Amino acid sequence: MTERDERHAQPEYDLAAVRRELPVLQEWTYLGTGTQGIMAEPVLQRHLERIAAFERGGTAMPGRVEAEANYQACRESVARLIGAEANDVALLRNASDGINIVTAAIDLQPGDEIITSTAEGLELIIPLVGLCARTGAALRYIELTPDPAEFAARLEALLSDRTRLIILSQVSCEWGTRVPVEIMRELAGPEVLIVVDGAQSVGQFAVDVTALNADVFISNGHKWLCGPKGTGFSWFSTDVYDKLPPVMFGYESADPVWERHYYQQEPAPAFGFRRAAERYEFGTRSWHLFGGLADAIDYQAELGWQAIFDHSRTMSDYAKASLGELPGVDIVTPLGWEDASGFVTFTVEGYEGHELRDRLRDEFQITQRSTEIPSAVRVGCAYFTAREDIDALVAALRQITGVT
Ligand SMILES: Cc1ncc(COP(=O)(O)O)c(C=O)c1O
Repeated sequence: MTERDERHAQPEYDLAAVRRELPVLQEWTYLGTGTQGIMAEPVLQRHLERIAAFERGGTAMPGRVEAEANYQACRESVARLIGAEANDVALLRNASDGINIVTAAIDLQPGDEIITSTAEGLELIIPLVGLCARTGAALRYIELTPDPAEFAARLEALLSDRTRLIILSQVSCEWGTRVPVEIMRELAGPEVLIVVDGAQSVGQFAVDVTALNADVFISNGHKWLCGPKGTGFSWFSTDVYDKLPPVMFGYESADPVWERHYYQQEPAPAFGFRRAAERYEFGTRSWHLFGGLADAIDYQAELGWQAIFDHSRTMSDYAKASLGELPGVDIVTPLGWEDASGFVTFTVEGYEGHELRDRLRDEFQITQRSTEIPSAVRVGCAYFTAREDIDALVAALRQITGVT
């Protein structure tokens, strides 16, 4: 334990009480928040009540009205969390929706170039590969580093007069590296579309979208925010609306909001999209899910976001130190908190990541995930992680590798 760890061994909130609100922890060591967050019981209870009220009430008062009001309140809540205007936040199903809003709308020509990183998940790579197949654009890969000067040098080497889009994660889902994304704009210039995937950053440390100098910021509600599955959101800078017309849309997307008689006129009035992120939302929605997301955000906000970030830092420091003592273990994630997040990705000599993943899950009830490059295991420290979780992981690895 470092001196800092000792000072912050306990978070400012009551960790034992928090853990009692997550019954799954009685059976599992849960280090899988980067894949899916778990919902605290008080949030879940309200969530179930909201679903019941909405589904039972339908359009009868107050079910639908309440669900729609909660939906708009969630937009405000997400906006506050990421330092945005509510008008520029679209409430979506997941982070992939945000990725697809970009890849479906962007106008690319054969030979145009897209830059992403070598440490992205398939959730981002596949839509980009599809975009290249559709348009004839080419994908370029930057090797991630948390060092701004090195990152800038690597980016500069890849930028060309054909670069149209840079899209990468603020925190790599593979290595847990925190990327200095805010420096990209100055190097790329105003014309290149910059999209930051924050699926692994929101809820791990403070995010201020306006400071990222990006056009679009994508995230979800079901990982670090521990909200309902099927919730996500994206932020759009006001300037980007002309570049990204909605590909799928409904009556809420139009400006002016069209009425039946408009399209019966000859000639019909000019059609335009709203200059608000709501243009990307359409049709009957799972409004009630977003009431649950707002509750999940409130739950952690009440514990204190800074206290949560400090705790993730303490736990990931502890995990790095404990795992680092095991022979044959190599920590892939940068060691310093400012360069990393609650993730710790590590290799174990002589073992494939997927093999360890399966054994840790099936023999030791430890949720985590493997990575492919390198073949490693990724664990995530969240607001509820305790030292006993890390100790259980280390003990399991000792058993698997036969190191005492
Ligand atoms: C960096 C990153 N982007 C996007 C996604 C996809 O998220 P979603 O399932 O919300 O679409 C993930 C999921 O693991 C991710 O880690």
